Amino acid sequence: MKERRTLDPRIDMQRLPRHIAIVMDGNGRWAERHHKRRVEGHEAGARGVRAVIEACRELGVPVLSLYAFSTENWRRSKTEVNALFRLMSKYIHREIDEIHENNIRVRFMGRWEGLPRKAADDLRYCLELTRNNTALDVCVALNYGGRAELADAARRIAEKAAAGEIRPDEVDETMLAAHLYVPDHPEVDLLIRTSGEMRISNFMLWQASYAEFLFPETLWPDFDKQCLCDAIVEYQRRARRFGGRT
Ligand code: IPE
Ligand code: IPE
Ligand code: MG
Repeated sequence: MKERRTLDPRIDMQRLPRHIAIVMDGNGRWAERHHKRRVEGHEAGARGVRAVIEACRELGVPVLSLYAFSTENWRRSKTEVNALFRLMSKYIHREIDEIHENNIRVRFMGRWEGLPRKAADDLRYCLELTRNNTALDVCVALNYGGRAELADAARRIAEKAAAGEIRPDEVDETMLAAHLYVPDHPEVDLLIRTSGEMRISNFMLWQASYAEFLFPETLWPDFDKQCLCDAIVEYQRRARRFGGRT
C-alpha cells in the first residue's frame, strides 16, 4: 500500500480524527476586507475547498463534512442565494473528474426538497458517479439543518411505527442514529468553524455530541492545508474523556 504522506511532522498519523466537520464561515467578511463583492468572497471560498479535501485525502482522514448552505441561509437575498447555487454547479463541473480520479466519494446531507433543480441534478450526478469510491467521503451539507435532520429522522421512525414495522419501545439512540441522513458515517471527532464565530449554527447537532470544537480566526477563503494541519495538531493535544476518567 502506498505510504500516506505526512503533511506535517507534528501530526500523529495513528490518531487521526475519523471525521472532520467544517462550518465554512467568513466569505462575506473576506470580501469586505478585500473591497470585493460578497459573491467574490464565495468564489474564493469555493476555491479553498480543494485544499482541505486534498489534505484529508493525503493524510488518510476518512470522512470530511462541509457545511455549504444551511436551512437558515434562505433568509439571504435572492441574488446571493442564486449565486451560491450557481457557484456550486460551477465547482462540480470544474472539480468532479479529479475528485473521482482520486477515489473520493461525494455524499449529501440535507433536504432535497427546496433545492434548485439544477443544483439537485448536478449533485445527483456526483453521488452516482462516485458511489463506489473508497478513499475519502466528502459529505456536502446543503439545505441542511441539524434540527431538520432530527425532525426528518423522527418522522420516518413514526411512519414505520404507524405501519406496524417497529414498536415505539424499540426506539432508542441506535435507531435514531440509523435514520440520520448519512447513517454509516462515524460521529464527528473534530468540528472546525472558521472566522472566529463561536457557535454551531444548527450543524450536526446529534453527530457532534462529543466532538472537539475549534474556532480559528482565519476566514474561510484563507483556510489552507496548513490551517487544517494546525487544527489536527491542536485536536491531538486535547484529552477526550467521553464522560469517563482517563
Ligand atoms: C459562509 O460565509 C458561507 C455561507 C454561509 C454560504 P458567510 O457568507 O456567512 O460570511 P460572513 O459570515 O458574512 O463573513
Ligand atoms: C453557517 O454560517 C452556515 C454555513 C457556513 C453554511 P452562517 O454565517 O450562515 O451562520 P450565522 O448566521 O452567522 O449563525
Ligand atoms: Mg457567516
